Amino acid sequence: MQELHSSPGISNSLSMGFIGLAVVLLLLFVSPTNCCTEQERSSLINFLDGLMPGGTGGLNASWVNGTDCCKWEGVFCSSAGTVTDVLLANRGLQGGISPSLGNLTGLLHLNLSKNSLEGRLPTELVFSRSIAVLDVSFNRLDGHLQEMQSSNPSLPLQILNISSNSFTGQFPSTTWEATKNLVALNASKNSFTGRIPSSICVSAPLLAILDLSYNQFSGSISPRLGTCSVLRILKAGHNNLSGALPKKISNITSLEHLSFPNNGLQGVLDGSHIVKLSNLVTLDLGSTGLSGNIPDSIAQLKRLEKFHLDNNNMSGELPSAISNCTNLRYLTLRNNSFTGDLSKVNFTMLDLRTADFSMNLFTGTIPESIYSCKNLTALRLAYNRFHGQFSARIGNLKSLVFLSLTNNSFSNLTNTLQMLKGCKNLTTLLIGTNFKGETIPQDETIDGFENLQVLTIDACPLVGEIPLWISKLRNLMILDISCNQLTG
Ligand SMILES: *[C@@H]1O[C@H](CO)[C@@H](O)[C@H](O)[C@H]1NC(C)=O
Ligand SMILES: *[C@@H]1O[C@H](CO)[C@@H](O)[C@H](O)[C@H]1NC(C)=O
Ligand SMILES: *[C@@H]1O[C@H](CO)[C@@H](O)[C@H](O)[C@H]1NC(C)=O
Ligand SMILES: *[C@@H]1O[C@H](CO)[C@@H](O)[C@H](O)[C@H]1NC(C)=O
Ligand SMILES: *[C@@H]1O[C@H](CO)[C@@H](O)[C@H](O)[C@H]1NC(C)=O
Ligand SMILES: *[C@@H]1O[C@H](CO)[C@@H](O)[C@H](O)[C@H]1NC(C)=O
Ligand SMILES: *[C@@H]1O[C@H](CO)[C@@H](O)[C@H](O)[C@H]1NC(C)=O
Ligand SMILES: *[C@@H]1O[C@H](CO)[C@@H](O)[C@H](O)[C@H]1NC(C)=O
Ligand SMILES: *[C@@H]1O[C@H](CO)[C@@H](O)[C@H](O)[C@H]1NC(C)=O
Ligand SMILES: *[C@@H]1O[C@H](CO)[C@@H](O)[C@H](O)[C@H]1NC(C)=O
Ligand SMILES: *[C@@H]1O[C@H](CO)[C@@H](O)[C@H](O)[C@H]1NC(C)=O
Ligand SMILES: *[C@@H]1O[C@H](CO)[C@@H](O)[C@H](O)[C@H]1NC(C)=O
Repeated sequence: MQELHSSPGISNSLSMGFIGLAVVLLLLFVSPTNCCTEQERSSLINFLDGLMPGGTGGLNASWVNGTDCCKWEGVFCSSAGTVTDVLLANRGLQGGISPSLGNLTGLLHLNLSKNSLEGRLPTELVFSRSIAVLDVSFNRLDGHLQEMQSSNPSLPLQILNISSNSFTGQFPSTTWEATKNLVALNASKNSFTGRIPSSICVSAPLLAILDLSYNQFSGSISPRLGTCSVLRILKAGHNNLSGALPKKISNITSLEHLSFPNNGLQGVLDGSHIVKLSNLVTLDLGSTGLSGNIPDSIAQLKRLEKFHLDNNNMSGELPSAISNCTNLRYLTLRNNSFTGDLSKVNFTMLDLRTADFSMNLFTGTIPESIYSCKNLTALRLAYNRFHGQFSARIGNLKSLVFLSLTNNSFSNLTNTLQMLKGCKNLTTLLIGTNFKGETIPQDETIDGFENLQVLTIDACPLVGEIPLWISKLRNLMILDISCNQLTG
């Protein structure tokens, strides 16, 4: 207790000391020696001058020469008064990007995303000796990206986002020899041509994100991409790439997202390779010309959520082992030559949100287990060889918004409509070319479908009188009952 009694005095003098220190720090902080330098100020003023008169996003109000540029809008300084961040995303800036920003020797982070900047991206910024994060995405920049002029020492660049611009030409290859610290390179949505930078990880071993999608890259994918040992995201969809996916890609065990849709690839999904990619969450190989079966080893991809194989030449059955992929939410097998009875798969274990089996050669009835997928919002079964009737359990699919059964051999339209009215959120129901020769049900049996906007029951053909219940679908916008033998 004695010690406690004496402590207030000590803490008083201590806090006096702290206040004193704080005052000194405060003085230091506001003292003019910690302003930005004259050179920094003029680098920024030069950038402002490079913008169009009406496209300064109001920056001219605070960016006044002669004042401390650490206080200017979008400009941030270190405690020593060095400009470290210039964050001007989404400001409505128009005009060119002045290379003068490359003269800000302490600049770490430059974000000019989502403006209307045009012209070239100054090499001074890409090859800056200070910038670690450079985001110029969503602008109108064009021209080629320069190759490295001389052999520079290691550059600090970690994140480069040039996505959503109008860059053209071959993608630089020597530049990446100096970006040893690169973690993310996003060049998506431009018009780059030539080969993809497959050797990039030889010099940039920390690369975790590589997005090259929506360009005009061509040629084959080099196995050297397999040296990207910490890559998590690899996206190169919507290009003109050819050849097979190199086996070496399976060495990138850190991959979570692998997507190459819409390319002229070929080859098969090799089970012994795919199984190594046990961290995959997204696997998108739609429209790539892939052939062969889905290997059983797909079951080992426990984290898989999105699996897209649409528009390929694949065949065989959907392996029943897929039910081991308990995180699977989005499955697209559309437009292949898959066969067999889906009832062999236990869908109960999956939390499917959308499933597209359309345009294949599947047979049998609708698997009962799919009715356990209570979060299913869209189900496409169109253009297959399914038959049979629906069980009342389809009404369990309360989240179902879109259902397409077109062009199969389902029977009992009355039953189908009765069972489906439990799916209150249904807006689109496409069931034509089924129910051959049946009579369309009349009013006493059908109600519900409050949210239905699109209904097609064409070309069954059906007989009977056009029923009144159709006129009670208050939200209906599109109705197709063509090519039937209805009267009334
Ligand atoms: C800013 O003002 C200084 C004088 O305070 C002047 O020397 C410099 O040229 C000016 N810079 C620009 C870009 O106008
Ligand atoms: C900033 O530029 C705009 C457009 O040119 C102009 O209307 C405005 O008066 C300028 N504001 C200042 C403070 O200079
Ligand atoms: C960068 O600074 C140097 C030295 O002040 C100057 O000569 C040069 O013109 C500046 N470059 C740009 C692009 O502003
Ligand atoms: C740049 O700013 C935009 C808009 O605020 C943001 O979405 C983006 O993540 C930023 N870029 C980086 C690399 O931080
Ligand atoms: C640009 O890409 C980087 C890396 O992928 C990302 O961190 C950043 O948020 C992206 N910027 C925008 C505006 O999306
Ligand atoms: C690349 O940038 C675009 C913005 O243009 C963004 O939508 C995309 O998510 C980014 N890619 C990655 C992998 O971060
Ligand atoms: C890829 O993995 C195999 C073993 O799975 C190994 O022998 C080979 O050296 C690896 N290649 C690279 C480039 O890491
Ligand atoms: C699927 O999981 C079950 C139970 O965990 C296991 O017995 C079976 O071998 C797995 N199948 C495959 C193909 O991995
Ligand atoms: C499907 O899986 C569920 C949940 O694991 C299980 O209860 C059910 O018995 C399985 N059904 C079949 C037909 O194997
Ligand atoms: C549906 O989604 C919710 C929320 O994401 C989740 O908690 C639930 O387990 C899911 N239901 C099924 C049947 O998978
Ligand atoms: C049905 O749709 C409404 C409105 O979009 C939504 O709030 C509700 O969660 C949906 N119900 C189910 C079971 O998904
Ligand atoms: C069609 O379904 C209804 C209602 O579920 C049922 O009463 C009827 O027997 C079924 N018709 C045939 C031919 O299976």
